[in-house]
Amino acid sequence: MARQTRLTVPAIRAAKAAGERLTMVTAYDATFARLFDEAGVEILLVGDSLGMVVQGRETTLGVRLEDVIYHTSAVVRGSARAHVVADMPFLSYQASVEEAVRSAGRLLAEGGAQSVKLEGGRPFASTIARLVEVGIPVMGHVGLMPQRVHEMGGHRVQGRTEAEARRILDDARAVADAGAYAIVLEAIPMDLAAEITAAVPVPTIGIGAGPACDGQVLVGYDLLGLTPELRPRFVRRYAEWFEEGVRAARRFRDEVRAGLFPTPELAFGATPPPSAPVAVEAPAFGRDEPR
Ligand code: KIV
Repeated sequence: MARQTRLTVPAIRAAKAAGERLTMVTAYDATFARLFDEAGVEILLVGDSLGMVVQGRETTLGVRLEDVIYHTSAVVRGSARAHVVADMPFLSYQASVEEAVRSAGRLLAEGGAQSVKLEGGRPFASTIARLVEVGIPVMGHVGLMPQRVHEMGGHRVQGRTEAEARRILDDARAVADAGAYAIVLEAIPMDLAAEITAAVPVPTIGIGAGPACDGQVLVGYDLLGLTPELRPRFVRRYAEWFEEGVRAARRFRDEVRAGLFPTPELAFGATPPPSAPVAVEAPAFGRDEPR
């Protein structure tokens, strides 16, 4: 029987009491999942942000449940240790609690996720409670909720007025009371994030919410510098892979044009030099093309 090696929901909950800061990164395929898993990132989020960074949409609203299931199964195959949480996309849980249970169940059963995340505060407390009741762990998400982009008038900071801040605090409390095991706080002032973090017993994971949260999440493509046109002020880019990738692809194009790639040694049928390695180990999740 396979041993449970992934970070569990109880371990994520316990991190708050232990004062351990959590990291969560979005991943949408096996290769990126493997990279972040190898780095020791605790939680991989198959975010509906895939609609924007993978599918090239303006918003997350067009992402289908089938898309998230597909990407979740790839992320699960590419990782071994991280907890994998799948986002519930727009209209997969809003219409009824029954539909929410079916959609979330598919993310676990078909996608292989260990938990789901859904956007929404107090109005979704009963949905969260029912999911938890049937054994589906839920990560909440309050503050800026990109699925409400039209209602919010864009992807804007939330909770700047006293009334809005009270509502977001109330949302976070309701989501925690309903049984969520962690809560994403997106794009809210840092003092409000600190107040919420002190008020709820479960870890808060911030994005654009300042340093007081119990953990931080970044979109993986932003972290690696793959989204050059998006420069939100709360993102730190830990690499510049877009520029590096353009440079590499340009070099490939130039070498092909100049007849410098491939060289005869790289072709099948060439005699390898005596020092050349004869076989290359395949990555863990398997590739079987000839080498
Ligand atoms: O979909 C996503 O990537 C998210 C994060 C921004 C938290 O929900």
